[in-house]
Amino acid sequence: MSKPLVVDIHTHVYPPSYMAMLRARKTVPYIHDPEQGEPRLIILSSDDDPAIPIDQRGRPVDSSYSDINVKLTFMQQHGIDSSVISLANPWLDFLDPSEAQEWARRINDDLEETCASVNLSGNPDQKLPLKGRSSLFAFAVLPLSAPSPDIIVEEIKRLRSLPHVRGVIMGTSGLGNGLDDEKLGPVWAALEETQLLLFLHPHYGLPNEAFGGAEVTARYGHVLPLALGFPLETTIAVTRMLLSRVFDKFPRLQLLLAHSGGTLPFLAGRIESCIMHERNFVKNGGNVPGPQRSIWEILKTNIFLDAVVYGVAGLKAAVTVGGATDRLMFGTDHPFFPPLTEGEKDWLSVTTNYKAIEETFKDENETVAAVLGGNAARILSLE
Ligand code: URA
Ligand code: ZN
Repeated sequence: MSKPLVVDIHTHVYPPSYMAMLRARKTVPYIHDPEQGEPRLIILSSDDDPAIPIDQRGRPVDSSYSDINVKLTFMQQHGIDSSVISLANPWLDFLDPSEAQEWARRINDDLEETCASVNLSGNPDQKLPLKGRSSLFAFAVLPLSAPSPDIIVEEIKRLRSLPHVRGVIMGTSGLGNGLDDEKLGPVWAALEETQLLLFLHPHYGLPNEAFGGAEVTARYGHVLPLALGFPLETTIAVTRMLLSRVFDKFPRLQLLLAHSGGTLPFLAGRIESCIMHERNFVKNGGNVPGPQRSIWEILKTNIFLDAVVYGVAGLKAAVTVGGATDRLMFGTDHPFFPPLTEGEKDWLSVTTNYKAIEETFKDENETVAAVLGGNAARILSLE
């Protein structure tokens, strides 16, 4: 079988302008860039523990976070033909309202230009597998802290003029009060109208107390926040959307959930059962409207999942709730989870996901090809 098209739909960048902004800051999120020693990226609130020396906080940050040529090299190294790049967490969530619109435009124009220039550069080593298209596309960012949702809607509509943009990436805080906030209605309506895919990605995790306190969290570095905090955060956010009837009111909204939906595929039955037994909901005699559409239907019609779950059990849960294998898409989470030893070319985080896909869909070449790239090409109109 010839090598299938490989599309990475979960891959981040911090454009140089954003890096400079982080370097100028002293509170989370920021980059500690001493004159001597390596710079550190300190973006998670658990990273900024005063008990940890500043030169050990967060994680090392190098050019792989911002230099698109490093990403292109990474893509070639790992057989990736096309990438849909997105700003990494925490996006523009923390910006002063007065700055949000300008930064969103700057970052989105920058992503568009990066995609366009890679396409036009004619770099002979760079494959252009998707006929007539570049091998880079983008998920844009939204000015969520802007003073009014109108500004967010305006940016969503402006994205139609950026030919490489295929959706938007968003965290779970929404306008500051989570994704069940009624004030997000115009944003959901605009996403539905433009049919831009909403890539929902975690950042805030869970409070340190959930893991036994700051000392316990710090002892194990990023394991508890990233392995557990992130997936739970995604699960909670999308469940709040469901409970607040977002999918009843906006039935054509399309979401891509990071990390195979957090724990949503595994917990869907429990969530649905708790809804069925909840007396607060009108259909059970209470006074809270409660969701109408079932979680199973939403998972099959509104939700796509990435395949960034590093194991067969997670992938099986993801395809089971999707009802078919056509809603699952390969991703890497580059530049996060680099090899720990310098000079190592194969990233364990990537090869683990490749292996899990191959093992899950043993002897099903067409399914492997669909998950690796065919689904993304179709869902995101890359061809
Ligand atoms: N760590 C992060 O902060 N973000 C990611 O996307 C992955 C790991
Ligand atoms: Zn990510």
